Amino acid sequence: MDKVFEVEDKYLAPLFQKFKLNIVRGSGSKVWDENGVGYTDLMAGYGVAIAGHCNPWVVDAVKRQVEKLITCHGSFYNDARASFLEALSSISPKGLDSFILTNSGAESVEAAIKLARKKTGRKKIVSMKGAFHGKTMGALSATWNKKYRQSFEPLLGNFVFAEYGNAESVEKNVDSDTAAIIAEPIQGESGVIIPPPDFLPRLREICTKNGCMLILDEIQTGLGRTGKMWASEHYNVLPDIMAVAKGIAGGIPAGCVITSSEISSCLSRGEHTSTFAGNPVACAAGTALIKYVVEKRLPERASYLGKVASESLRKLKEKHIIVRDVRSVGLMMAVETRFDVYSILNKGLSRGFIFGYSGRETVRMLPPLVIEEADLNQAFNLLDEILGEEENERIRQNR
Ligand SMILES: Cc1ncc(COP(=O)(O)O)c(C=O)c1O
Repeated sequence: MDKVFEVEDKYLAPLFQKFKLNIVRGSGSKVWDENGVGYTDLMAGYGVAIAGHCNPWVVDAVKRQVEKLITCHGSFYNDARASFLEALSSISPKGLDSFILTNSGAESVEAAIKLARKKTGRKKIVSMKGAFHGKTMGALSATWNKKYRQSFEPLLGNFVFAEYGNAESVEKNVDSDTAAIIAEPIQGESGVIIPPPDFLPRLREICTKNGCMLILDEIQTGLGRTGKMWASEHYNVLPDIMAVAKGIAGGIPAGCVITSSEISSCLSRGEHTSTFAGNPVACAAGTALIKYVVEKRLPERASYLGKVASESLRKLKEKHIIVRDVRSVGLMMAVETRFDVYSILNKGLSRGFIFGYSGRETVRMLPPLVIEEADLNQAFNLLDEILGEEENERIRQNR
């Protein structure tokens, strides 16, 4: 085990905040270390393992595909890619039936920005304070947090930031050179920030009125996470362009932009391609993942478990003074505390649970949508226990 830590620490550029856990195997909502110690994964690889780790339908599809064909450039046709596109179109909002395949979330955002600029012939992008859209230069230009941006400035020009949840602030920033408004339907990285119910509908109106594109980043909220296939469905809003990634191929790196052919046809051949986009293995995995999500009704499951979770969250807030706020939509959940949560995460790990974080003071949970209700309840019991301990430690320190 120490050898694995040593090697990674020696050779890998030190870019990730690391926890001392060597994960070697996963199944459903559980992962195991090299000694066979199991953990319930409330983070699902940052929201990726929507249908669980090593989902059997995905595993089977990948096995079959790697024996047939592993790579196929987009300049040729491929059966696995065609099936994935059909599966994608079956879950896409009505009217959005054209796709740009990508390899990650940030790449989906890059493609979305290029598409909006080309389609409108305008330059300006209105993003949101608190937004997270990825760390490549274009996506980073739409990302708010100074910590990620400041060493790399100047970023792309013509990006401005409005108050998230405040349509007036957005409207004030829109002008005749605005190509797009980009927003997460619920902000994930900022700590599960839920906008007022009329916010997304107002963004839709503002875009329609001003002839600019509405880009919704569903990278974290999509694929059933919030209790609907797409979070925009909670608000009855149809975006012009959607950015998708994370769980779309069951854990194999992949993403896509979902738009209309009327919009995507503005791009000329060669203007946006990538060697790996539409890779047959990722596509086979994606088709299997979508079938699983639909046939096992995972959005409905997330909605049901989300109700159970919101009751547990409410109790945590009621009971613990160190809990400042709790927020959730479906299985996208946050517990905001009054102090650094690092020790909560470590205590969770030492007792077999992987919790995530958003910034320093918020515990974030994005479990697989297949998590058993009993496991979810156990996670909340443990959080309750740890919050109690943290409270007592602070009381002791203040004596
Ligand atoms: C809303 C949102 N957009 C974009 C991204 C970037 O995706 P990736 O890390 O795959 O580049 C993320 C990643 O967490 C995200 O949550």
